[in-house]
Amino acid sequence: MTLHAVEATANATVANLGVGFDILGMALAEPCDVVRAERSQSAGVQIAAITGDDGKLSRDPMRNTAGIAAAHVLRQIGTAEGVVLTVHKGLPLASGLGSSAASAVAAAVAVNALFGEPLDRAALLAASLEGEAAVSGRHADNVAPSLFGGITLVLGTTAESIYSLPMPPNLHLALVTPAIAVPTAQARAVLPQSVSLKTMVHQTANVALLIHALYTGDLALLGTAMERDSVVEPARAHLMRGLPEVRAAARACGALGTVISGAGPTLCSICDSELVAQRVADAMRAVYAEMNLTAVVRVTRPTAQGAAWRAL
Ligand code: HSE
Repeated sequence: MTLHAVEATANATVANLGVGFDILGMALAEPCDVVRAERSQSAGVQIAAITGDDGKLSRDPMRNTAGIAAAHVLRQIGTAEGVVLTVHKGLPLASGLGSSAASAVAAAVAVNALFGEPLDRAALLAASLEGEAAVSGRHADNVAPSLFGGITLVLGTTAESIYSLPMPPNLHLALVTPAIAVPTAQARAVLPQSVSLKTMVHQTANVALLIHALYTGDLALLGTAMERDSVVEPARAHLMRGLPEVRAAARACGALGTVISGAGPTLCSICDSELVAQRVADAMRAVYAEMNLTAVVRVTRPTAQGAAWRAL
């Protein structure tokens, strides 16, 4: 059966989980980006419309993460046909929730589905990374969880280097996204190029502790390990307004740990119930209100669900 139009969704992600810079990522139940793909007689990729981005994203497919991923899929398939994409941004831009990755993943999945799914998920990972790399660097800690779902350990950029980790059943999240821009490139430019042996030991020990906490479902230990980043957070903290205040307010409401989500400025607290996460979210919003900063809060959970599509 030839499909003429499909729609794919790809979810937001929290990269790093604090201490696991560029190697850990978690898919969130919401929000998500939605990409619709339709067949076109004109070769290549066109972007008909983008909604939800306040006009900020390029409609030029070669300067858009969804367009680049879609073009990569078309090349891999080797078709002379083209596609027209419509992108709906459910994710805020430059927020640390994996916005560029979600659009790239949704576009790759949608275009592949349109042509009868000739590519496997490993090829879709490669295509999504092409899109992600154009915007935020070639690292898969957002793309992999968005595509595959769950909590992932990302040792490289190929499917064989992605490992699925356990999702503690009672893990709830409170997220706050203040209205400040932190481009990923800037957040990466401030990072140290080398660390001392002592720091390396501290960081690796806490990544190991975090993995242990996931396997044992110990959320208090998970929060402790996540917050012990001694490399990336100290270098980025000056870009994250409100981080110490939000962390303190979240903890006072029962959060077990608060970290920068990806490259920020979103901050993510882990909690052991939805009720606590809701209280934490309210407290986070109040911190930014005190600073006269608008902030969007979300209460969500990790999800095992990866990117999905349906025929239209
Ligand atoms: N691991 C990446 C970073 C995620 O923190 O820079 C953002 O793309």
